[in-house]
Parts: sequence; C-alpha cells; structure tokens
Amino acid sequence: MFKKLCIVSLLTVSQWVFAETGQPPSADQVAAGKALYGRYCLACHGENGVGEPPIPSTIRAPGFFTAMPLNEASHAWHHTDEQLVETILQGLQRTQRMPAWKGVISVDQATQLVAYLKSLWSPRIVACQGPKHMSCM
Ligand code: HEC
Repeated sequence: MFKKLCIVSLLTVSQWVFAETGQPPSADQVAAGKALYGRYCLACHGENGVGEPPIPSTIRAPGFFTAMPLNEASHAWHHTDEQLVETILQGLQRTQRMPAWKGVISVDQATQLVAYLKSLWSPRIVACQGPKHMSCM
C-alpha cells in the first residue's frame, strides 16, 4: 500500500513539475517575457534569439563562449521549462558570460522568459521539448 502511495505521489509530482514542458505558452506570458528579454538578454542572445555570430577558434580567447541561439537552431529546446528557468536563475558553471539572474529576475519572470523562448520555436519543436527530443523528431 505504502509503495503504491509513493508511486502515485511521484507520478503526481512529476506531472506537476513537467506540466508546461511540451505545451505552447500563453500569449500573456510571451508578451511579458519578450519585454524582459529585450531588457536583459537581447544584447547577447540577439533579436529573436538568433545568438551571437560564432568566433573562429583561431582568434577566440580560450574559454570564451559566444551566446548560443535560443531559437530552435540550437538545443535550448532539449531542456525542460524547469531546466531553462534554473539556467536563467543560476547561470552556467562553464562560463561567467551567462550570469546568474537570481536577485534580478524572479522565478515568475524567468518562467515568462521561457514562455517567450518557446514562442520562437515551431509547434513541432515545442511538442518535442525536453527528454522527448531523443525519440520524437
Ligand atoms: C553577457 C552575455 C549574456 C547575457 C546578457 C545573457 N546570456 Fe544567456 N548565455 C550566454 C552565454 C555565453 C551562454 C553559454 C554559451 C555556451 O555554453 O556555449 C548562455 C547560455 C544560455 C542558456 C543555455 C542554453 C542551452 O541551450 O543550454 C540559456 C537558456 C540562456 N543563456 C538564457 C538567457 C536569458 C533568458 C538571458 C536574459 C535573462 C540571458 N541568457 C542573458 C551569454 C549571455
């Protein structure tokens, strides 16, 4: 009985955690996220999430990362909504160029930013977002 209860609650929790992943974002969330994107992200990740142009490795300083596209040209969509929120708030270990926005951007705002990023992906990509990307395409 206890085991069954554990499994049921685990399923419920995981459904809640992954509720938005793979789902299209709402227009309100996208609009709010777009404004935030213009303010905090566009300088590096570019208009419509196209990313910075690549720098040839021969002239790139060691350890320098360009901001990758966040549209569907790169692999942002391989991550769940929650992982993207986490990256936005915590930054990335591999480069200080992607700062931790915690303290500047709230969890709600990070969620709105993710909604905007998802609006840059086609419905097919949104449907294949997250762990599904391995088998879905
Ligand atoms: C100062 C430049 C800069 C700014 C500003 C910036 N980023 Fe980044 N971002 C980067 C770099 C550099 C990377 C890592 C590139 C790599 O690892 O190849 C990155 C990586 C990411 C990733 C990981 C994508 C993936 O596929 O793993 C996400 C998501 C992201 N940024 C979102 C944002 C959002 C949202 C904002 C605005 C709140 C933002 N970034 C602002 C430079 C920036």
